[in-house]
Order: sequence, then structure tokens, then C-alpha cells
Amino acid sequence: MSSLTPLSQAIHNAPRWHEPKHLQPSEEIQIQPLDHAALGAIVTGLDAKKAQTGETIFKLKQALAQHLVLIFKKQQLDDLQFLAFASYFGSIFRPSKDNPVLGYDLETGVPPDVVPVSNAVGQGDYTGHGELAPHADHQWTPLPSFGSLLYAIELPKAGGKTSWINTIAAYEALDDDLKQHIRSLQLITYNPFVRAQSNNGSKANGHTPLYRFDDQPVVGHAYPHPLVRTHAESGRSALWLSAKNEVELVNYNDIAGAELIARLREHLAQPEFRYTHDWEVGDIVFWDNQVTLHARKPFPSEQRRLLKRISLAGGRPF
Ligand code: OGA
Ligand code: MN
Repeated sequence: MSSLTPLSQAIHNAPRWHEPKHLQPSEEIQIQPLDHAALGAIVTGLDAKKAQTGETIFKLKQALAQHLVLIFKKQQLDDLQFLAFASYFGSIFRPSKDNPVLGYDLETGVPPDVVPVSNAVGQGDYTGHGELAPHADHQWTPLPSFGSLLYAIELPKAGGKTSWINTIAAYEALDDDLKQHIRSLQLITYNPFVRAQSNNGSKANGHTPLYRFDDQPVVGHAYPHPLVRTHAESGRSALWLSAKNEVELVNYNDIAGAELIARLREHLAQPEFRYTHDWEVGDIVFWDNQVTLHARKPFPSEQRRLLKRISLAGGRPF
């Protein structure tokens, strides 16, 4: 028999609901919204290694749609157990080779199912130790992931906190005229990995513009998505715009477009829309990538930080 893929192996190995000692009773699980935070809820009493009941998974999905970020405490998983748990919530995100993303393999063009996010050289140091500006993962692809899970394995003593922005709250806080004006706009977010490839080719300095003006070349594929995105489960509207990617509004004057985008980005940066997570080893943070942005603070390069990320497939934004 041919060997199984990691994902098939993960599901093959996963404990079954009919093995009582491996099944987690739903009553043991608490979901507690964070106090006075822009988003987020803490999930305690859940061991992600165990089989979960239908009632639990349904509750967690509802809680994610409501709170946008779920924080699971005190987990201890290997990659296959992490994959088995994440798969309760959807299929694994598998972009095509023509749309490179974080962790993509130079030969196959696709990332592994579990992406190491680390600063250890050669072991997933894609994002190093620097600051990551607020972004939605894979926004430049035709079918961006609906959500991701990030699992903390090794943490620096200082820095490296991750924060999430509630883009539903940000949209709702706009004045009515502006909401009306942006509701039907389409946004292209250009692929930073294609940009990096072409920068290397041309020996340019790696600079990425914040907006593509008409006289600038298009780098890579362009997939227009709504600037105001509808959340699939709740029907709520959200402002879907990353802080530092090169973007362009479709059929919109470029000078006015760059100004509008800068204004919206400034709006999104306000602290009242943001929750900052102080990581503990064993945390899994599961976020809705459709209606949030996330960002990371830098940390000392000589301290190790290792998280593992699984992204789940999403539909076409609407
Ligand atoms: C990611 C990401 C943030 C972090 O993995 O998509 O943005 O805190 N990570 O490392
Ligand atoms: Mn990210």
C-alpha cells in the first residue's frame, strides 16, 4: 500500500468518538468571552488531542463566528494531532503553485499542511523576528483561507505578541456616507511573494508600495475581492484591507484611491478595534481570517520563537 499523506495519517490516527476514554464530554468545555476586548473568547477544559462531540464542534463554530478569535489553553499536540483537530473546522488550505504563500516549497510551489512560523534559520524562518503589519492571510489568492490556527511551542522572553483587529467593528464605526461609498468597491491585493521573486530577479531593494498607481507595472496575478466583505455565517459587513500590502481599487482614480486606502488604514489602526495576545506555551489561537486582521510585534533575534500554523480553505469572498 502506498504511504499516507500527513493529513490522511492524522485522520487515520485520530481517536474515535466511540472510544469513551478518548472522547471529551461537552460539559467539560467552557467558552468565556474576553473582558472588555474588541474580540476573542477563551476556551478551557478542552484537550485538542481527544475526539470531540458534534455539540462541541458546533458550539465552537458558533463561538468563532461571534467572537472571531478563540484561544485554547494548555494544549500539547504533535503535528498530526494538530491537523486532526484543525480538520474538524474545514479542509486544509491548499493554494495552487501560481499563487505562492508563506512557507511555499520552491519545487512544488505549495506550503506544508502545518507551516512552522519561527526565527530559527532554515526551520520556518519565513517571517524572521521583525514586526508584521496587520494583514489577512492569503488575501492575494483567488480563494483566501477562511481561518487559521496558530499553536505556540517556544516563545521569546520579551516581545513577539500577536494582535487581532475586529474589522466588523472597524467597518461599523465608519460614518454612513463613507460606508455607502465603499460598499461596492473591489480591491486587488497583490502577492508579496511574487513581488519578492521579481525584486530578486531585478536586484531591486525589496521595496513594496502601499498602492499601485496607474503608471506602475502589475506584478503577478490580480484577484479583485470586495473591500467590504460579508461574513458567511453572521452576514455582518467587515472592512477587508491589510495595512502594508500593495493594493489597488478597481476602476477608481489612482490618486483618490491611494488617499482613500490610507484613510481606511489609519482608521483600522485605532486601538479600540484590537486585542493583543500575550502568548503562553500551549496556546492555540484560532481566528476567522475573513473579518479580522492580525499583526505581530518584533522580538529579540537571539531568542527562539516557534509557532505552528494550519490554515483552512475558504470560499470566494462576497
Ligand atoms: C501567521 C502570522 C503571526 C505571528 O502565521 O500568519 O501572521 O505572531 N503570524 O507569528
Ligand atoms: Mn499571518
